[in-house]
Amino acid sequence: MMQNGGVLTLRRMGAGDLGLVETWLRDPEVARWYLVASTVEAELDDLRQCIGGAEQTEALIAADSSGPIGWCQWYLCDDYPDHAAGVGADPGDAGIDYAIGEPASRGRGVGTALIGALVTYISQRHPQAGVIADPEASNVASRRVLEKNRFQLRGERPVVSEPTSAPMAIYRLPPRPGVLDLPPVLVVVAPRRRAAGTGVGGGPAC
Ligand SMILES: CC(C)(COP(=O)(O)OP(=O)(O)OC[C@H]1O[C@@H](n2cnc3c(N)ncnc32)[C@H](O)[C@@H]1OP(=O)(O)O)[C@@H](O)C(=O)NCCC(=O)NCCS
Repeated sequence: MMQNGGVLTLRRMGAGDLGLVETWLRDPEVARWYLVASTVEAELDDLRQCIGGAEQTEALIAADSSGPIGWCQWYLCDDYPDHAAGVGADPGDAGIDYAIGEPASRGRGVGTALIGALVTYISQRHPQAGVIADPEASNVASRRVLEKNRFQLRGERPVVSEPTSAPMAIYRLPPRPGVLDLPPVLVVVAPRRRAAGTGVGGGPAC
């Protein structure tokens, strides 16, 4: 549970959020994991494509009572076959990426709540979907928030579709159709606009 007992909301990311996301990407703790083989500009460009519907990934902003605190995204692994093969996704699985951008919000349970909210959001749309995440194996905080949400470790190894040869810790939360044990968060998201995208590239890296 978030330590302030607060409510976490998720809403679709818009172009007006990119300035804030840029600030977050430049934070050393975020850059350390997000910019391993990428740049701020490349990440923002990817997000622009998600926002515009050219990519099949949906980007969301997470906010608590203090305002926006981070972002996350999800996609169907089937839309990114190389990444699906790389992480060994089952058909229909979803993949996720996430970051708490506000330094003061880290280490207070917000990331754990964010994963819970995102899983709920995906389950409501794809009840049969398992959820895959593959943080770098050395990203202990990222692994913990998955484990605290009952993700199961499938293996640790490099993933060819990721921009680094470092070992990734591949986690999967099995589908739990009909079980929507809503976390202590409120999930509020605008309707999805889903254009006919190309699904180019591998699954977005985190
Ligand atoms: C990873 C991240 C989402 C976690 O969110 P958070 O709000 O900080 O996490 P929480 O407070 O919910 O929980 C963090 C857990 O990791 C542990 N942890 C945090 N930093 C740690 C570290 N350096 N070493 C070991 N454990 C650590 C905490 O103790 C806690 O586990 P516990 O409750 O069992 O003690 C957030 O820190 C973040 O966005 N970091 C930068 C970007 C990033 O790494 N994104 C993920 C890329 S895959």
